Amino acid sequence: MIRFKLNDQIKTFNGDENLTLLNYLRDIEGITSPKDGCSGQGACGMCAVEINGRVVLSCITKMKKVDGAEVVTIEGWPESLRRTIGEAFVEKGAVQCGFCTPGILVRTKNLLEKNPHPTRDDIIKSLQGHFCRCTGYVKIIEAIELAAHTLRGGAATSAVKTGGVGTRHPKYEAYGRIVGDIPFVDDLRFDGMLHAALKFSDHPRAVIKKIDVSEAANFSGVIRVFTADNIPGERVNGLIKKDWPVMIAEGETTRYIGDVLAGVVAVDEETARRAVDLIHVDYEVLEPLTDMHQAESSPIKIYPDGNVLETTIIRRGGNADEILAASEFVYSGTFETQRIEHAFAETEAAVALPWSEKGVEIYSQSQGVYEDRRQLAAILSLDEIEVKVNLVPTGGGFGGKEDMTVQPHAALYAYHLRRPVKLHLTREESLRMHPKRHPVHLEYQVGCDEHGKLTALKARIIGDTGAYASVGMKVLERCAGHAAGAYHVPAVDVVARAVYTNNVPCGAMRGFGVNQATFALESCIDELCKMGGFDRWQFRYDNALVNGAVCTTGQVLESGVGVRDTLLAVKNQFYKAKYAGLACGIKNTGIGNGMNDESEAKIEIRSADRVVIHHGWTEMGQGVDTVAVQTLVQETGIDPAIIEVRVSTDNEAVAGMTTASRATSLLGNAIIEAARELKKDLSDHSLADLAGKTYRGKWVCDWTTKPGEAGEPVTHYSYGYATQLVVLDEAGKIDSVIAAHDAGKIVNPTLFEGQIEGAVHMGLGYALTEELPMQGGRLKSTKLKDLGVLKPKDMPKVVVIGVEVKDPLGPYGAKGVGEIGLVPTAGAVANALYQFDGIRRTRLPMKRKEFGFREL
Ligand code: FES
Ligand code: FES
Repeated sequence: MIRFKLNDQIKTFNGDENLTLLNYLRDIEGITSPKDGCSGQGACGMCAVEINGRVVLSCITKMKKVDGAEVVTIEGWPESLRRTIGEAFVEKGAVQCGFCTPGILVRTKNLLEKNPHPTRDDIIKSLQGHFCRCTGYVKIIEAIELAAHTLRGGAATSAVKTGGVGTRHPKYEAYGRIVGDIPFVDDLRFDGMLHAALKFSDHPRAVIKKIDVSEAANFSGVIRVFTADNIPGERVNGLIKKDWPVMIAEGETTRYIGDVLAGVVAVDEETARRAVDLIHVDYEVLEPLTDMHQAESSPIKIYPDGNVLETTIIRRGGNADEILAASEFVYSGTFETQRIEHAFAETEAAVALPWSEKGVEIYSQSQGVYEDRRQLAAILSLDEIEVKVNLVPTGGGFGGKEDMTVQPHAALYAYHLRRPVKLHLTREESLRMHPKRHPVHLEYQVGCDEHGKLTALKARIIGDTGAYASVGMKVLERCAGHAAGAYHVPAVDVVARAVYTNNVPCGAMRGFGVNQATFALESCIDELCKMGGFDRWQFRYDNALVNGAVCTTGQVLESGVGVRDTLLAVKNQFYKAKYAGLACGIKNTGIGNGMNDESEAKIEIRSADRVVIHHGWTEMGQGVDTVAVQTLVQETGIDPAIIEVRVSTDNEAVAGMTTASRATSLLGNAIIEAARELKKDLSDHSLADLAGKTYRGKWVCDWTTKPGEAGEPVTHYSYGYATQLVVLDEAGKIDSVIAAHDAGKIVNPTLFEGQIEGAVHMGLGYALTEELPMQGGRLKSTKLKDLGVLKPKDMPKVVVIGVEVKDPLGPYGAKGVGEIGLVPTAGAVANALYQFDGIRRTRLPMKRKEFGFREL
């Protein structure tokens, strides 16, 4: 018998002494502030608790080690301590998705008890074992400093509580996320809930001759094993193109190592996972196609009609070859960018329950609940009204939760069994299953005249979209559509191709193809400056897009173009620095390209002290719920303390996928529209009078044009702009990143800074260390620590400068900022390093040794 103290209570445990403390706390005690971020890899710190006054990782601590010990979780802290540290994190905006935050809170308490006067270096050192993908650690460090100050008796400052647009209003539900009170999907428990696990293909390309589930089905504790035969509706799905089977059937050929062959539902997760190992598959193993350059000519056909998913062609402004031939200076370069992983903190999870007579309800963390509903209804052969999808704000997404992964499986099992079923992926399974950032090969030629004015650009681009389309065609379309970056280039000739391979699929990831193009282009710009002896800042300023100029696609940008303003914002620091790299960026707000961008919003007055905003966008750390609250406050003056935000399909406040930096822009406009009538009513009624009333708003952009469509192109309704400056120290190490971003209107400066700081962290990792290599269609590593994500000690100083050049259509002039924060980063780093050592780096990641990156 194991005896120990948990949060001041004596506990005894007679079960498996090798059970992890994390599983004990979460599954037996229902204590969910410790999170599972890496499934026992000991690599993220999200499961941190205190044992005998030391911080330990509960995911790698066995119950036998706990005997006689004292275990403390956040739930056991004195309320005043919880409040003080938690409020410091709220105040500084040190939380985005919040999945990593409880673990960091544990570390903070422990640090400050031992060292009430920590230096910044002490704090950074204490955070080394803590993984955060959202914040870049900047505001976390500030929050720990503030918590130390307050605990020492310093006065606590309090965050603005009543702010409309433009204020540092605290993030919606921030405190609950910080202390771990608000559940993520995997924290949900329902009576009679079963647990599922998936059987993945052992080979990237193999014919499935036979799937024998008999041993698994007879395993004690197993409720049922499901295969492709159990899918009542459409088995093959996809966001744009239906090419992705929920499960592979016998007789079919797998396309990647994340293909699902079967699923087991059992009384608990461990039983389900053990039973998965008892599923026997007879494979005819085939050679996989893994090289994107061979995709077009390979005899291996991943799809009957070949391996090219889609080609985007943009040609305008004359014959680029002839113009380049006549240009004074032409730089030609070939660039390679790598596959990387989103590394969101919370791996995929879903809980599905029976609902109505034959329908299902699902708790999802996806980036689009209405897209989930549409696809789930098709898979289950139900009407959409019979599928209810509730959003549980997600522990990070960055594009990686656009495609469905676990949702169809959980829904299918609950549909058949009429019992709640939870399915959550381990970190290894998550890495294996969801789409990544595209590796892209770019051949660029860029020309300019003797005065340094750009003349023409020619680019040939190919991207590895892996086994399934996902949104790969759109990623390469966006790569092509931003090939000329934030500059006016008179003649453009771009061909971009997305090709299938047997690698892990690639799809949406923050920046969506634009990062790759910008890295190539900004490197070419510096090379042209070297060839012609042009000043690098002035060259960019002279060629920058301005109102009335045309961007890559030929769209005339009529107003709101802020590239030059962002360049001016970094000008002084650029000229002061010895080793400085500069890059500009442009990023679309909205999907555009002929697809509608739209949002509905519903404001429900429940009572004098309860107003609910219903919308369809996913809160994944970026702050869309806070934007919703601030917009309603701005329009109506309603006290934000009484405003709730809800996202569920049964409220029919429809939105598309939370993607393309568009949620703030579209939802803001929809709420302004919904608030119009409410404002009128509030002029002569109280909220109590209006209880029971609902106000609806909708904003639609349906006027963008498809690529290649005749007439003047309108590719997107809005764009954001940026310039980033990377400054190196005397040793060639990055000293600071100065990020000037035109957000049109900064709705919340704290959230805005947080988005850019987090994106710069991600962008530096992309530039220097991040990689997800594959060999023979298999991941070389499924370890979180091998992804190359930068640690707190690797982060240079990040200075965010907000620029506000109003967008003509965005709410209050706002533009999207979710993605552009890392669009220019890799180019700016490459250009800074070139200044230091004269080496032009054309491949990512640039793998600087000082970051201690381990070659796989
Ligand atoms: Fe314990 Fe990641 S879950 S270190
Ligand atoms: Fe740290 Fe999201 S806030 S991972």
